[in-house]
Amino acid sequence: MTTRIRPYDDGDWDAVLDLCLLAFAAGCGALEGAIGHGLDWGACLEEYLRSLVGSREQKRLLVAESAGLVVGFVHYEVDRVARCGRIGVSAVHPARQGRGIGPLMYAHVLREMRAKGLKYATADTAGDEAHARARRAYEKVGFVALPMVQYFVELDGPGRPRAAGRPRSRPASVGPERGRGGRR
Ligand SMILES: CC(C)(COP(=O)(O)OP(=O)(O)OC[C@H]1O[C@@H](n2cnc3c(N)ncnc32)[C@H](O)[C@@H]1OP(=O)(O)O)[C@@H](O)C(=O)NCCC(=O)NCCS
Repeated sequence: MTTRIRPYDDGDWDAVLDLCLLAFAAGCGALEGAIGHGLDWGACLEEYLRSLVGSREQKRLLVAESAGLVVGFVHYEVDRVARCGRIGVSAVHPARQGRGIGPLMYAHVLREMRAKGLKYATADTAGDEAHARARRAYEKVGFVALPMVQYFVELDGPGRPRAAGRPRSRPASVGPERGRGGRR
């Protein structure tokens, strides 16, 4: 079945939100368990997506459509000064995962970035098992992992993640870390 990548349209909101919440359930649940926080990741994601569709960022929000259904979405950021692009939040409906739709969206985004004259692209995700498929999807389109670690400390609690003991790469965030002033 052919999948095409096209700009987000206002009528896509319900489908994008639904698939986003479904797709992130495993990864965000694992994160919540690890940091022992009352993180309402669903509300955070919805708020973040709303901030994208209500702003200039909407023009860099794309959806994957198959047989008239929205089956995935991806947002990307552009830093024209650094000539660098960044793949932000993205997801494929769980029922459609494992069919190459993620890499199809990422390859499309990389082509748009090249067409804008950008020199580099980045993407980030978590280092845990729940995000293995995301890492795999990024690597399929040429990304290589950098040896970075993101630290976390709780400011109003004991300060240690529940699962502390082993270093975790990129434990956190819902939505891009840059750009919104504020994950994935
Ligand atoms: C990351 C994501 C967008 C990748 O999209 P995708 O269309 O599934 O990508 P692919 O089809 O290339 O699958 C990626 C890998 O995950 C594996 N995979 C897919 N679905 C799987 C499943 N349900 N269980 C186990 N592995 C699975 C595939 O086998 C594939 O690896 P392979 O090609 O070497 O076999 C999608 O898995 C997703 O929405 N994940 C949750 C949200 C997320 O992590 N977003 C990215 C960070 S913002």
